[in-house]
Amino acid sequence: ILRDLQMKCATPLPVLRHVADALAADMRAGLAADGGGELKMILTYVDSLPTGNEAGLFYGLDLGGTNFRVLRVHLGGKEKRLLDTEFEQVSIPQELMCGTTEELFDFIASGLAKFVQKEKDKFGPPKGREREIGFTFSFPVKQTSIDSGILIKWTKGFAVSGTVRRDVVACLNEALKRQGLDMRVSALVNDTVSTLAGARYWDDNVMVAVILGTGTNACYIESVDAIPKLQGSTYQSGKTIINTEWGAFSNGLPLTEYDRAMDCESINPGEQIFEKTISGMYLGEIVRRVLQKMAEVSTMFGDSFPQKLSVPFVLRTPDLCKMQQDDTKDLNEVEFILSDALGVKSSCLGSRRIVTDVCDTIVKRGGRLAGAGIVGILQKLEQDFKGSIFGRRTVVAMDGGLYEHYPQYRSHLKEAVTELLGEEVSKNVIIEHTKDGSGIGAALLAAANSKYST
Ligand code: BG6
Ligand code: GLC
Repeated sequence: ILRDLQMKCATPLPVLRHVADALAADMRAGLAADGGGELKMILTYVDSLPTGNEAGLFYGLDLGGTNFRVLRVHLGGKEKRLLDTEFEQVSIPQELMCGTTEELFDFIASGLAKFVQKEKDKFGPPKGREREIGFTFSFPVKQTSIDSGILIKWTKGFAVSGTVRRDVVACLNEALKRQGLDMRVSALVNDTVSTLAGARYWDDNVMVAVILGTGTNACYIESVDAIPKLQGSTYQSGKTIINTEWGAFSNGLPLTEYDRAMDCESINPGEQIFEKTISGMYLGEIVRRVLQKMAEVSTMFGDSFPQKLSVPFVLRTPDLCKMQQDDTKDLNEVEFILSDALGVKSSCLGSRRIVTDVCDTIVKRGGRLAGAGIVGILQKLEQDFKGSIFGRRTVVAMDGGLYEHYPQYRSHLKEAVTELLGEEVSKNVIIEHTKDGSGIGAALLAAANSKYST
């Protein structure tokens, strides 16, 4: 089973190359027309990037990762003076992920209300002004302007009723009203977009932002001339950010029976295949399915089948990570996690080794394919503007728990980027972890789109 898995999950250079090329081709198709390819290539209405001169007090709301966050960011104007940031975060209760729209948005609005209530007087808005919010909503949204957009579909296990095809800012505004809060959303942004804006504030060479966490996605700065579906709309700067929604990509991915079964039983079958292959929500579950098969056909975990092993999502990606960090001679940590998380007895060292090999196979495939995705985007930009990407320092801003906490995943990703681009070119491509840059990014975009700015 292990050998078969390793063979089917292999990502040698030709597979990586195919993925990078296919992704770049799909980007073009999505830029040509809505529905042109698997990637939605969503227009974000962000055409002015942070200048460093943004000033004032702005709020951020961030929904879509493991945690829901509320922030307050005090921007000091000239020379990128970030005076203060404060935030609070809570994990999103499981029941809200499949409840009603009102329940979810009431939860967000009441989190914000509590946060605002605690403010000292000095943080109150200037007289006659509403407090303004940058709303990071990390799901596919068809934007209708910088401060409105319709939810296309839920991803990452969310299945809240009544939100799809509704304007999420209107949903939030209704909830704010129910809380008696007088605040307005000045910018609605995807998490990739706020991460890009936050990183670009400090570094002009940032061109792409990627999230590798519960889910995955990427956005980048595109030239308006390269977006046929814009059809004559004018953008002052000649550039805009495109949210690729690359989680939906699937062309040529090396998939197995375990991936297919997981997809079939998911709440969004046939969708988000790249995301299901490379992101944090799913890696543990793929490994669990492989171990389940092993337990069914062999006695490597004892004579009787460990029942817990058949419970979907009991094995989590952080568990894989802990097992892969186990450097004890007898793999004691692996033994503990197998027993604790899965109720599996692994008295033999050989079985524990097989388990870590399964983890490595799935994590290696994920990291390498993520690397190929990044190269796909860079390659598309380089083809359009020769020398503008590979011939100079280009920064990819990265955020998300998977990338941050899983060293093996990170090194597989970087290895794939180097294999694809070669040693010399890959020296110019800097993948920079910008932890929580999205909070500041959302505030910066709220400032840039403030109704009070002149
Ligand atoms: C955060 C973003 O910084 O990263 C979130 O602001 C995003 O919106 C996240 O989804 C990824 O987090 P996680 O918890 O999925 O790793
Ligand atoms: C999912 C969402 C996407 C988000 C990503 C990372 O793929 O659809 O909008 O950016 O997760 O959080």
